[in-house]
Amino acid sequence: MTGDETPAPGAAGQPGQAWPPAFDTSVAHQARIYDYLLGGKDNYAADRAAVEAGLKIWPDVAHSARANRAFLGRAVRYLTAEAGIRQFLDLGTGIPTAGNLHQVAQAIAPETRVVYVDYDPIVLAHARALLTSHEAGATDYIDADLRDTGRILGEAAELLDFTKPVAVTLIGILHAVPDTDDPHAIVARLMDAVPSGSYLAVCHPGLDLLSQETTDRFTDVTDRMVRGDFVFRSREQVARFFAGTDLVEPGLVTAEEWRPDPGGAQGTSSLWCAVGRKP
Ligand SMILES: C[S@@+](CC[C@H](N)C(=O)[O-])C[C@H]1O[C@@H](n2cnc3c(N)ncnc32)[C@H](O)[C@@H]1O
Repeated sequence: MTGDETPAPGAAGQPGQAWPPAFDTSVAHQARIYDYLLGGKDNYAADRAAVEAGLKIWPDVAHSARANRAFLGRAVRYLTAEAGIRQFLDLGTGIPTAGNLHQVAQAIAPETRVVYVDYDPIVLAHARALLTSHEAGATDYIDADLRDTGRILGEAAELLDFTKPVAVTLIGILHAVPDTDDPHAIVARLMDAVPSGSYLAVCHPGLDLLSQETTDRFTDVTDRMVRGDFVFRSREQVARFFAGTDLVEPGLVTAEEWRPDPGGAQGTSSLWCAVGRKP
């Protein structure tokens, strides 16, 4: 699907009205904003206008989106090649782009199994692309809200063996869950379901990595989005997601500081990132 095609009919999708977000091109969607920031084509005028507004407030936002995606690639390579992980539960998948999680992992270990979870209808429309697994491994897609952990874990168990280590990846999604929905409890429920030797990977916009003016004014962007929750969290708040895990080196750092590739992108991403192992 390209950004020029007629969208499937859906509910209205005004903030607070439709849940999960309906396919409405007149309101910005997080998945399509991210797609635009990464140079993709699955976005509409409302998404691009939200990005233009965002760039005026947070000029490094496009760099942060690329740094987020690059962290995903390095974390998955680490988990597959060095930690020996062969099962992933990826929450907040996003629109497929270069270097999707299963492609990164299966390039190293073709037998890897990946379950993707996202609640956005445009990501669902691309689910088939996410399911093009290496024949030695397998992929699946669950159309669900992150908050619905019971259903996610139940359906993921059809592909993943929860008696063996699983990497739970929450990369660029937890900021979309407000404190009122207790994202720390959501992460704890997911990590409770996986055995010792499992991993958690998180990348999250940092409240203390941006000026207060930037984070305050960011409502100019979120007001344009369907379900425009966007919560910046401090390093300490992000660290609490890793309760009950041991952080792998170099710990909780900015995206570009986490195991950088030689000659990798420089710059300041304003994202806290880490990988933790459940002992
Ligand atoms: C910024 S993209 C990140 C994509 C990918 N993880 C990456 O790092 O490249 C965030 C994705 O999370 C999804 N998302 C946000 N809140 C969600 C929720 N409560 N349940 C499921 N998916 C959610 C959005 O639809 C979007 O596709």
